[in-house]
Amino acid sequence: MSQAPVVELIDVTRSFPGPPEVQALKGVNLAIDRGDYLSIVGPSGSGKSTLLNVLGLLDRPTVGEYRLGGVLTAALDEEARAGLRARTIGFVFQAFHLLPRRTVLDNVLLATLYSGVPRRERMPRAKAALDRVGLAHRMDFLPTTLSGGERQRVAVARAVMASPELILADEPTGNLDQQTSGEVMDLFEELNADGLSLVVITHDQHVADRARRSIRIADGRVSEL
Ligand SMILES: Nc1ncnc2c1ncn2[C@@H]1O[C@H](COP(=O)(O)OP(=O)(O)O)[C@@H](O)[C@H]1O
Ligand SMILES: [Mg+2]
Repeated sequence: MSQAPVVELIDVTRSFPGPPEVQALKGVNLAIDRGDYLSIVGPSGSGKSTLLNVLGLLDRPTVGEYRLGGVLTAALDEEARAGLRARTIGFVFQAFHLLPRRTVLDNVLLATLYSGVPRRERMPRAKAALDRVGLAHRMDFLPTTLSGGERQRVAVARAVMASPELILADEPTGNLDQQTSGEVMDLFEELNADGLSLVVITHDQHVADRARRSIRIADGRVSEL
């Protein structure tokens, strides 16, 4: 096993050309070890989503290096990045992003299409993932019939289907009330206890305080709290 951090950003800057040019990330250095539980807080416009997009291989640094699992990602073409993303990272978003006309089970199954999970393993894994988030009894329901907390648990099941090393969550409790939000965070923390690295972007200080490690981002610069 490699001892490299899961994530390593070295002097990463991301500029949007404009005009006017915006430096959404400025000289960011960040290492996330295997099994870390990190929260990222910062005001609107501070660069949180840009950071998440870079970490998630959805965007590239303008300057600097990003190593994911020790792999220097700048050297990869888009296809290789997509493959690495599918195998390594699970995403959870504020707005759930479930397909409204597909059942809960289909939503989870569809996540394995590009992940390298062998076909015959997909169904048992999807069912196990739904069982794990406590939604085995909602498998055949449409997402639109579920509560917000249940929808987010489906999204978590979908995110862990391909056995990622890293979960990136962007305001995962933003659409949930306090109790439901606590339940979703409990679920994330169980996954983290099993060894998954967890990065949660949040506005909610209660959510941020649960993480073992917290960083603040302001005007594109990161500082450790
Ligand atoms: N595609 C883009 N083109 C130009 N500017 C952008 C783009 N994406 C983000 N920005 C700018 O970068 C800064 C950081 O944005 P963002 O990462 O979305 O912040 P946050 O998620 O913290 O609200 C903002 O000033 C935003 O306007
Ligand atoms: Mg954002």
